[in-house]
Amino acid sequence: MSAGVLIAFEGIDGSGKSTQARRFTQWLRDRGADVLLTREPTDGPWGRKIREARFTERLSPEDELHAFLEDRREHVASELAPALARGAVVVVDRYYYSTVAYQGARGLDPSALLQRNRAFAPRPDLVVLVDVPPRRALERIAARGEGQDLFESLAQLTAVRERFLALASEPHVVVLDGEGDEAAVFSRVLETLLSGPLRAWAAHHLPT
Ligand code: TYD
Repeated sequence: MSAGVLIAFEGIDGSGKSTQARRFTQWLRDRGADVLLTREPTDGPWGRKIREARFTERLSPEDELHAFLEDRREHVASELAPALARGAVVVVDRYYYSTVAYQGARGLDPSALLQRNRAFAPRPDLVVLVDVPPRRALERIAARGEGQDLFESLAQLTAVRERFLALASEPHVVVLDGEGDEAAVFSRVLETLLSGPLRAWAAHHLPT
């Protein structure tokens, strides 16, 4: 049992989850919480390998899975576990639900993927799944001025979204409507924190 709280933000590329994770982190810090904000893929050696591969030649599903799992293993050992042990709130921008959704979309079995991750990765206390229609996500990606990469075609995002939504019945997962402006979505994030699986924790730890 860890003393801290683990919150994961998940969603397809362009869903706005990173923006919401940052805002949420700031909101918690403003209330005096000790928060670690971190992301996957990480900036470690495996994470860098993954980022390089996405703009060149895509890895095979198995090699890709291996890279994400190794990246996560290192992330858990060096950052997540120590922060949770000291009682921090850990906010992760992507976690193993992304593996289930993205590598699942490449044909790997979702329940096996879940199992392999849960063998070593701590379970989140709350998973905020920011859901937007893929067309909207692509508009946002285009507006950021970034070129689309190999993960980001409409068909791909549609397949990944379906797999994310299939995880809605997993414990602690809350699907959040990611449409609308940043502030509107953020108010839904707070609502999720204050009324969702972490309701009791929030009531106890956060000043109102
Ligand atoms: P992303 O959050 O978009 O990173 P960046 O900071 O580079 O924008 O993640 C990169 C891609 O990796 C994204 O398309 C989703 C994918 N991904 C997986 O396929 N499996 C995983 O386990 C994770 C964590 C990410």
